[in-house]
Amino acid sequence: MGRAFVYVVLGGGVAAGYAALEFARRGGYSRGELCIISEEAVAPYERPALSKGYLLPEDPSRLPKFHTCVGANDELLTTKWYKEQGIELVLGTRVISADVRRKTLLTATGETISYKTLIIATGARALKLEEFGISGSDAANICYLRNLEDADKLVNAMSSCSGGNAVVIGGGYIGMECAAALVTNKIKVTMVFPEKHCMGRLFTEKIADYYESYYTLKGVTFTKGTVLTSFEKDSTGKVTSVILRDGNHLPADMVVVGIGIRANTSLFEGQLLMEKGGIKVNGQMQTSDSSVYAVGDVAAFPIKLFDGDIRRLEHVDSARRTARHAVAAILEPSKTRDVDYLPFFYSRVFTLSWQFYGDNVGEVIHYGDFTSNSPRFGAYWVSKGQITGAFLEGGNRDDYEALSMVVRRKTKVLDMPELERQGLAFAIQE
Ligand code: FDA
Ligand code: NAD
Repeated sequence: MGRAFVYVVLGGGVAAGYAALEFARRGGYSRGELCIISEEAVAPYERPALSKGYLLPEDPSRLPKFHTCVGANDELLTTKWYKEQGIELVLGTRVISADVRRKTLLTATGETISYKTLIIATGARALKLEEFGISGSDAANICYLRNLEDADKLVNAMSSCSGGNAVVIGGGYIGMECAAALVTNKIKVTMVFPEKHCMGRLFTEKIADYYESYYTLKGVTFTKGTVLTSFEKDSTGKVTSVILRDGNHLPADMVVVGIGIRANTSLFEGQLLMEKGGIKVNGQMQTSDSSVYAVGDVAAFPIKLFDGDIRRLEHVDSARRTARHAVAAILEPSKTRDVDYLPFFYSRVFTLSWQFYGDNVGEVIHYGDFTSNSPRFGAYWVSKGQITGAFLEGGNRDDYEALSMVVRRKTKVLDMPELERQGLAFAIQE
């Protein structure tokens, strides 16, 4: 049993949705030549909604409202849209092996799907506690958050936990966004993570302090510098408390785990070059096999702005842009320059909202008001006399645009105390 396509997008997440839109806009395929294969049962959607609008106690966001590409203020691609565009959605279908030499994919149902050109958009999976030697994370009240199924489990757990206690494991993006959602759902939260402060991959201690103080005022307790070792469970298998390395027991009616991800590369290991935990691609998003492209969380690609350094980014803007770039490169190779991407991350929690551009390397200068409840503060990272990164909480569209420009231009900094004194004005007047 088998089907043949010209173009196959493997994975049906954010990148797949934006790739589909780019194919449709460019019109470079005929009906039935392009398919998206996804393990998920629904058409591509904006994954960031799962830790934000989806978890709201009132008027939560539900599909079809957040299918791609609404996150970039673009068209809402429903199942009907794919049909109209002649793009085949092969949903609820897991690919279990790939043969790059033969250009075939084998699905769990035994179907062989062949392609002329493949775009790998398999994203990533949430790391499980088992991978750190802790067992029992399949309990009914332990939640991870990567896909809709996880989000539904989390919503159900929250609905039977009002007024109760949640323990959030991990102080990264999932931990911070879920802790905020739990508080909004009137659940008491303790966050547990091994680092000295939250968001260790990006935040400075000063920035982290602001968010931790804000969360503390909202009732969140921080247990830092330690990890969990096991769970206590009742006779039904539900977790009742989390046991920490220091011997403390934290009562828990539910647990949310966000301890990082691994890119879904396994189908291609030994067949394509890998780097930084992902599939290595060039500036056209093309892998070491010229018929295969990789985009989104799974792709490790050169960042021109960082002198071609290869990075694997785990953020939605990068997924959207690399997907569109790959399609342009496939359909119009001679007209498509190498990708020139400015890394961009953001988050929204409670009424707070921040954006970051560039790379958080070098010396840091903080500026602005770190004390208010409606704050406006930020930081620049400066390396070799140039701006390499910029962070701002509470900015408006023009502020963020100005910051992105100083990072993109690697604006020179002649006087660090002056940069600190000017703060945001430095970027705006540039
Ligand atoms: P994505 O994970 O979206 O899609 C991968 C797809 O491949 C899935 O459909 C999966 O089922 C499928 N797949 C994998 N293996 C397969 C196989 N063998 N066979 C078939 N299908 C397979 N970023 C940001 O910048 N701002 C934000 O606010 C957020 N918020 C956020 C919230 C939550 C809850 C998560 C989990 C993530 C975010 N992110 C984010 C990160 C952002 O969502 C992420 O970078 C993109 O979803 C990456 O898009 P991809 O398409 O690469 O992977
Ligand atoms: P992360 O990498 O942001 O954070 C992982 C956290 O796990 C670390 O901060 C650390 O505190 C913790 N940790 C690691 N090992 C641990 C252990 N043994 N015990 C306890 N804690 C441990 O990953 P995440 O928060 O799980 O997020 C998953 C993915 O989702 C990431 O790719 C992230 O970019 C994405 N995401 C992004 C956003 C956003 O950009 N706004 C929002 C949600 C999710």
